[in-house]
Amino acid sequence: MANAPRRASETPSAEFCSGCPERARDARLLRERDGVIHRQEIFDQEVNHRLLNSLQMVVSLLSLQSRTESNAEAASHLSAAANRVATIAHLHRLLHSMDGRQSVAFKQFLNELCAEYSKMLVPGENPDRDIVVEGTDVELPTAVGMPLALIVSELLTNAIKHGKGRIAVKLEGRYGKGLAISVCNDGPALPEGFDPAASEGLGMKLVLSLVEQIGGELRIDRGNNNDRTRFSVLFR
Ligand SMILES: Nc1ncnc2c1ncn2[C@@H]1O[C@H](COP(=O)(O)OP(=O)(O)OP(=O)(O)O)[C@@H](O)[C@H]1O
Ligand SMILES: [Mg+2]
Repeated sequence: MANAPRRASETPSAEFCSGCPERARDARLLRERDGVIHRQEIFDQEVNHRLLNSLQMVVSLLSLQSRTESNAEAASHLSAAANRVATIAHLHRLLHSMDGRQSVAFKQFLNELCAEYSKMLVPGENPDRDIVVEGTDVELPTAVGMPLALIVSELLTNAIKHGKGRIAVKLEGRYGKGLAISVCNDGPALPEGFDPAASEGLGMKLVLSLVEQIGGELRIDRGNNNDRTRFSVLFR
């Protein structure tokens, strides 16, 4: 790894270099660099920790408000907002727990994400209900991984909530034209002329805004003629 700090034993000591001013200066610079990297790592951990604490506080506040809200519809919106913020905190923790913070092995990440979502499927309720991850693994910058993770999370929630049967999440290359990630499920076809921008729900609006954020494109197969409902995001 290009930026991996040297271990102390690898950094030339000042005594070893005392007869050679250039080597002594290099050794000092290397030690200073190691110190800066180490301090930055501690700073990043602290920022991460505070961010997760703040998100947890927002979740608690929204949940509390939802429980004390007398209007049932408003209470349900507050509870949905609390769940979404909790999802963001969870995805953030998952992404940052993976090897390094600059990029993420996205299929490996999807496996972990889908394992979490599988817990939402009630065991024994419908033996056909299952979430599988298919396709190839790709290393993605975390800056793209986070919005993509949120997109997949909304699409998975919809597949569980509105669809039936097996759910497949697939990550694949598009022959030099970038990558595609899709979530598909059995169940009722989407209405003809389905317009995600006109949806009353918040999920589709979030997906559209996140797809725009990564400069991607959303494609929808409605799922008629026994095809499965499929939401695909194309991106580079
Ligand atoms: N995978 C799917 N299978 C079938 N219908 C779907 C699927 N995904 C979305 N839909 C339809 O599209 C509508 C809009 O989805 P959207 O995520 O915006 O809203 P929602 O899921 O109803 O509410 P929210 O996301 O705010 O909790 C849904 O109400 C549903 O009718
Ligand atoms: Mg939804």
